[in-house]
Amino acid sequence: MSIKPRHFISLLDLTSDEFRFLIQRAIHLKNNRDPDYQPLKGRVLAMIFEKSSTRTRISFEAGMSHFGGSALFLSPRDTQLGRGEPLQDSARVISSMVDCIMLRTNSHATVTTFAQHSSVPVINGLTDVQHPCQLLADMQTYFEHRGDIKNKKVTWVGDGNNMCHSYIHAAMLLDFQLNIACPAGYEPSQEFVDAACGHIAFFDTVLGAAKDSDLIVTDVWASMGQEDEQRQRELAFENYQVNAEIMSAANKNALFMHCLPAHRGEEVSADVIDGVQSVIFDEAENRLHAQKALLEFLLCNQ
Ligand code: CP
Ligand code: NVA
Repeated sequence: MSIKPRHFISLLDLTSDEFRFLIQRAIHLKNNRDPDYQPLKGRVLAMIFEKSSTRTRISFEAGMSHFGGSALFLSPRDTQLGRGEPLQDSARVISSMVDCIMLRTNSHATVTTFAQHSSVPVINGLTDVQHPCQLLADMQTYFEHRGDIKNKKVTWVGDGNNMCHSYIHAAMLLDFQLNIACPAGYEPSQEFVDAACGHIAFFDTVLGAAKDSDLIVTDVWASMGQEDEQRQRELAFENYQVNAEIMSAANKNALFMHCLPAHRGEEVSADVIDGVQSVIFDEAENRLHAQKALLEFLLCNQ
């Protein structure tokens, strides 16, 4: 019987120790780039994108290349996936030819179904429900700038969406407090809230949530696939902007993060995202280093 591959669909696929190991490994790989270190020589990553991407695509493709491997960009438009070939069949076929598969899909169930039928590790490159790869990079960024995040206070502002869900998981694994300020009707899913026992707290105002925080994080008001809701969301989220007033309620050395792409003047003011507390470009770059650590962990540790 074949051994089940190790997938990365949720942050909770990692233990706390493994998450901490990946953060340290990513920092090491970033600071000690060795072109002769090619642990994935000849290995292939297939990347299936149902939605657009700049950071996820480039970081995985560059990461595979640094490690001596290669990556295939597969769009449903150009493969039989877009013509209705069953996921089960696609997963079996694609995984018989490559060493790892990354998917960015509209529905989380697509990734979980795919993983059930894949003979190689499957990585979640963002679904409607979770974005675990982004959290590897965000946490690496926090550790680099401020050290361990354990017992720190993090504030999530805005949509209780895929990013917020993965922040809840990070709070559980790395043991920090997550304050959440979401408009009514846009809270995180109950199953994530229920699982977070003691790590999260809800606030009616952004100012209240941001008080004494060490890190303030937000995301777009309308995620990919929600473009039709833009107007309605602008109204619902109008009091949910991270601006200088919010940052001044946080600790003096608080950081600002955003997974990008961002809309200046909506979820964050330009002076904050382009200001001294913002580490958005480190976050973006760290997608590369964190995912190299992840690929090495999933593909070289068997
Ligand atoms: N943050 C992030 O996942 O960016 P992309 O959509 O560009 O991949
Ligand atoms: N919440 C955003 C994240 C983009 C990286 C989206 O799903 O579009």
